[in-house]
Amino acid sequence: MNIKRIYIASDHAGFLVKDESKKLLLDLGFEVVDLGANSAEVSVDYPDFAQILCQKVANEDEAYGVLICGTGIGISIAANRNPDIRCALCHDTFTATMAREHNDANVLAYGARVVGMGVVQEMLKAFFSTEFAGGRHQKRVDKLGCCC
Ligand code: RB5
Repeated sequence: MNIKRIYIASDHAGFLVKDESKKLLLDLGFEVVDLGANSAEVSVDYPDFAQILCQKVANEDEAYGVLICGTGIGISIAANRNPDIRCALCHDTFTATMAREHNDANVLAYGARVVGMGVVQEMLKAFFSTEFAGGRHQKRVDKLGCCC
């Protein structure tokens, strides 16, 4: 997969895991842009950060995203309101791999209160190295635009 840039964002609950995730992505050689939040102490609203990141990912070629909140649930729900975003809430290597292979996900979400950094590292590696399989999955992904 061609990856020009990875945007990363979280709310306060995901702040520390975002910082660690950013370091892991930089170590893997990716260009990473951190869109906040900037503190674990100041309470913020996850939809605001999902919206900022999704606008970036949707408007740039070969841009991907990582979103983190306490559970990953709220921030992934918010992200999927953008019709150009396929945000996958993942919990392990298998879901992170399938999110790319079957769903052509362009944003990976996870919960800072759900997964440890070991799992995060494996998910990041899996997600950002797995190609979309296309074929029968393409028509299903195409139908995502008209689900509702
Ligand atoms: C914040 O306390 C928490 O509700 C949020 O990070 C997230 O888990 C929501 O889905």
